[in-house]
Amino acid sequence: MKKLAPLLISTAILSFTSSVLAKAPLGLPEVNIPQNNQLSQVKKALGKRLFFDKRLSGDGTISCASCHKPELALTDGLTTAVGIKGQTGARNTPTAMNAAYYTSFFVDGRADSLETQALGPLGNPIEHGVKDFQPLLKLLQTDKKYAWMIKRAFNIQPNQVTKEHIAKAIASYERTLISANTPFDRYLYAEDEKALNDSAKRGLRIFQRKGNCANCHEITLNHALFTDNRFYNLGVGFDKIKPKFMDFIVAYKKAAAGEKINPMNVYDNKLQSEFGRYAVTGNISDIGRFKTPTLRNIALTAPYMHDGSQKTLEEVVEYYNKGGEKNPFLDPAIFPLELTDQEKKDLVAFLKSLTSPQFKK
Ligand code: HEC
Ligand code: HEC
Repeated sequence: MKKLAPLLISTAILSFTSSVLAKAPLGLPEVNIPQNNQLSQVKKALGKRLFFDKRLSGDGTISCASCHKPELALTDGLTTAVGIKGQTGARNTPTAMNAAYYTSFFVDGRADSLETQALGPLGNPIEHGVKDFQPLLKLLQTDKKYAWMIKRAFNIQPNQVTKEHIAKAIASYERTLISANTPFDRYLYAEDEKALNDSAKRGLRIFQRKGNCANCHEITLNHALFTDNRFYNLGVGFDKIKPKFMDFIVAYKKAAAGEKINPMNVYDNKLQSEFGRYAVTGNISDIGRFKTPTLRNIALTAPYMHDGSQKTLEEVVEYYNKGGEKNPFLDPAIFPLELTDQEKKDLVAFLKSLTSPQFKK
């Protein structure tokens, strides 16, 4: 090979940096990169190192990847997440794959960007349990590799690093955790008739029509996020808050009349989790509403729903087929579907066609 002129090399490096995110994969749009957190190779590498580093936790046992495991499409296979000292959280770990496309984060939408999301689990007492960021920042300054990466990624001295830099680096790494190009994508967007078998093809039609699934798990002309980034009540978990629900309503009315109480305190922390979006907005109509999750790689991310209460895709389909769980806030788009046994099978076959090649065993 001939040697390239230095000028050529530097433009090659430049264009490589700006295309850290290669072209959007089949089935997904391009990722939006925020103005104030441009992507670079070194920032992405720093974020990756942080994502896998257990030293980022209160007792050195937990990293992001402890719960968001690469081999399970960034989930953990548990009903609800387990953090430091074996403590169990109230919620199932959702995939962090394709989170770059979300416009609200967490199942109740309490964060509005990957940057703000990343600091959530670090500070959460039962996840990473980082009480004080000082030791963590010290680690980044004294670990030679981190110090070097921070200088390069942010053009600052290591002693100027803040937790916001940690968040920016992790968010940058997450913007590269993209997966599409599934059999479904090849069938719908590359017109490869053979990419899906007949059962999965019928399943896609049910998903879009009789099952009403695409009403929330969106599929558009050019791409499919399988989420609309909105919040709905399917009734999952309502049975848990039902017994004391009248007490809650009484407390809610007192609060509305000006008493300084939080009506959710009728319940313990775990049950408060069942209020979903309400915890963020305080709107009574948001009780039990959760964000529509993506369905990409769904075959790998069992158990399902915000509380991990559904063990298999067959169970999920049954749940929708019966019209969800009745409760005062059930979304009108959830109703009995009257699917035949074959239609249920087809729907599951379709859901199984949403696995990206990088996760195929
Ligand atoms: C102890 C397990 C655990 C650890 C550690 C953990 N997460 Fe999570 N993650 C969860 C759970 C559970 C949720 C859902 C919580 C909720 O919505 O209230 C979540 C939600 C998320 C989401 C939002 C997904 C969505 O659908 O909106 C992203 C992104 C994410 N985590 C990334 C990270 C990053 C980055 C780290 C490390 C800084 C991390 N997680 C550490 C369990 C964990
Ligand atoms: C009204 C909006 C809406 C409709 C219609 C809908 N979903 Fe959902 N879906 C959601 C929401 C919201 C959740 C999360 C609920 C929770 O965690 O409590 C969800 C969760 C799921 C999950 C579990 C995802 C995970 O990672 O845990 C699967 C699978 C699923 N839906 C498939 C379907 C199928 C199949 C249909 C059609 C039969 C359908 N959905 C119809 C909004 C909807």
